[in-house]
Amino acid sequence: MMASQTLKRIVAPLVDPAVYDFWAQKISPTLSWDRCLARIESRHIEARDTVSLILKPNRQFQGFQPGQHLNVTVEVNGIRLTRSYSPSDTLRSDGRIRLTVKAIPEGRVSRHLVHHSKVGDVLELGAAFGDMTLPKEAAAWLLVAAGSGITPIMSLLQTLLQKPLEQPVALIYWARTRADLCFSEDLHSLTNRDPLLKIHTVLTREDHRLADELGGRPREALFRNLIPDLERRRVYVCGPDGFVTSVRGLLEPHAALFRAESFSPAPVVTRAGAPVTVTLSKSNVSVQVPSGTPLLKALEDSGLKPAYGCRMGICNTCSCQKQTGSTTDTRNGAVQNEPGPVRLCINSANSDLTLEL
Ligand SMILES: Cc1cc2nc3c(=O)[nH]c(=O)nc-3n(C[C@H](O)[C@H](O)[C@H](O)COP(=O)(O)OP(=O)(O)OC[C@H]3O[C@@H](n4cnc5c(N)ncnc54)[C@H](O)[C@@H]3O)c2cc1C
Ligand code: FES
Repeated sequence: MMASQTLKRIVAPLVDPAVYDFWAQKISPTLSWDRCLARIESRHIEARDTVSLILKPNRQFQGFQPGQHLNVTVEVNGIRLTRSYSPSDTLRSDGRIRLTVKAIPEGRVSRHLVHHSKVGDVLELGAAFGDMTLPKEAAAWLLVAAGSGITPIMSLLQTLLQKPLEQPVALIYWARTRADLCFSEDLHSLTNRDPLLKIHTVLTREDHRLADELGGRPREALFRNLIPDLERRRVYVCGPDGFVTSVRGLLEPHAALFRAESFSPAPVVTRAGAPVTVTLSKSNVSVQVPSGTPLLKALEDSGLKPAYGCRMGICNTCSCQKQTGSTTDTRNGAVQNEPGPVRLCINSANSDLTLEL
């Protein structure tokens, strides 16, 4: 391995990665000089409109920590699109990973992966990102998931259960109906695995709930009832933006630690500001956009297609170099007047800008 890395460094100046990939992929479709490509090895239906894909990445894969996410690039109708997905299991000893994807109505990538991808297809993976990971020390946990937010939470839970628990762990998992529950069998078999583990499912739109299923939206009484020792729990939450906001309001003031990640972007807040000119220096294009609107949306509204992944400032896919001009971070109002990297999804223009795009 070390020897091959050294050889690679020596010959690197002589190699055109695109040419190498073109010829190497005639031998194996996941061979690449510097890109992490992964082959779909198997797929199975996990729940309604949801599939799990088992992927075998090539040697460029750097791994991930449970709770992190990967940007996945796929070609849909000839266009390369990137979205974030979270491994829903621990990294397997054979190097394979599991992604679980729910098809969103009208969703380009999710519908492609769920309804059209097949065994043998190759996806490109980015480096893992996200900091909702596990510390080394044992702790009392409350994991809360809704919808496809169960994916990183499942990876965290499986990791916690690799050793006998020293402190209590609870999972509260919201889905619309029983047919929407992912990993039902896995969760069922985990239920009796450790006396310190409690798993609760909450169904919001199921007509006939079973004795062990709860109903309703997140509310204080439900959390207090299920988790009387909330003050000592570290809480990790993952789900759609509205769900995360509501759980944050209920739990953050009381829990020992609170972290949350949302899978759907918060509604884009736009201030209809004066028009400014954004110049994309590499593409030699200039467009007028309203100041105050996140640059990613403003550029898309102008017919451009900048790369993006999470649309919420965590994956860095949309980052580019700002050469001139002033921007505001739409999350906290921080103004940046100096040249430097800018994430288009969470920054708006205050003045004319030049971006290295
Ligand atoms: C950090 C992170 C991790 C994620 N992990 C997973 C995962 O493990 N499994 C999974 O299934 N999804 C996950 N997602 C969501 C995923 O990245 C995509 O947003 C989702 O699959 C929709 O992409 P699309 O191309 O199908 O939809 P698009 O074509 O981009 O959008 C179609 C429509 O759906 C809306 N939309 C976009 N994203 C969502 C969403 N997440 N929820 C509801 N509506 C949406 C858009 O506003 C638009 O109206 C994750 C997102 C993030 C940010
Ligand atoms: S799209 Fe992920 S940081 Fe902007």
